[in-house]
Amino acid sequence: GEWRSAKTMEIMGLRIPAYFTDDPRLLYDYIVNFKTKSDDVFVVSYPKAGTTWIQEIVWQIYHNGEVNSKRIEDRVPFLEEAINPKASQPDIASLPSPRLIKTHLSYEAIPKGVNEETTCKYIYIARNPKDNAVSNYKFLTSLAKSTGLNASWEFSADLFVQGKSTWSHWDKHVLGWWKHKDDANVLFLKYEDLKKDLLSHVRMISQFLNKPLSDELLNRISEQCTFNGMMKNAKSYLLRGTEDGPKLLRKGVVGDWKNYFTPEQSERFDKELLAKLDGTGLEFEM
Ligand code: A3P
Repeated sequence: GEWRSAKTMEIMGLRIPAYFTDDPRLLYDYIVNFKTKSDDVFVVSYPKAGTTWIQEIVWQIYHNGEVNSKRIEDRVPFLEEAINPKASQPDIASLPSPRLIKTHLSYEAIPKGVNEETTCKYIYIARNPKDNAVSNYKFLTSLAKSTGLNASWEFSADLFVQGKSTWSHWDKHVLGWWKHKDDANVLFLKYEDLKKDLLSHVRMISQFLNKPLSDELLNRISEQCTFNGMMKNAKSYLLRGTEDGPKLLRKGVVGDWKNYFTPEQSERFDKELLAKLDGTGLEFEM
């Protein structure tokens, strides 16, 4: 048949899946009226950059290294799905503090505080755009029924470069957050760095959250949060709780893009996405 992009609606300059709500204004209202608290922690990313990974690390930091088999979205719910009746996740507003929340919102769109009592923390994870695009393609095609996407890899890669994939332009998203990397309440992380040295990043995250942990606990959490460690609790990362539904963990490596990209596609990503990072100081290992 004909290739189709995912059915989306636009909220605050971002294309998000249309099935999240029947009425984009309701979601818009929910987001702009969201009241942050000083101990809220938002786990933020462009989709498929490693959000689930950070959600799990942050959750374990706050729960003494416990491995919990509840679905990750029941433990760290997704802001954009807050009013989706089909999402079946806890009500974010009434979560006990500290509330741990996942979102893909841009810096401009994310709920912010207005004073000391309402200024919260944001942990942003970014990933090289080639692996990010492959992971996105694999995930969206596994979700094809709910997103309306019907895409070849070629079509999907083209949407990604054009900024027409879900949550819009990769480069604007990442650079919007990168500009705030030195803000006291923002921690900017890269997927490739976590792959290289998870332990020091778990320590960095725990210090950022003012939750210093013993070396024993830091070691345990970083072992439990490697890809293989998390696969031991794979049920937590089944999106619909079923084995035949979409999975949040797939391969978990750096460089899988080499199995998908043609030389032309790779050059296009270099010219149209990676070139946008020139002069910003942001670089990715590929
Ligand atoms: P792949 O599709 O390349 O395997 P998100 O959570 O933002 O949806 O991102 C999902 C991506 O992060 C998937 O990438 C997934 O496998 C990867 N991922 C999740 N947990 C990981 C871990 N512990 N180590 C490495 N990669 C992980």
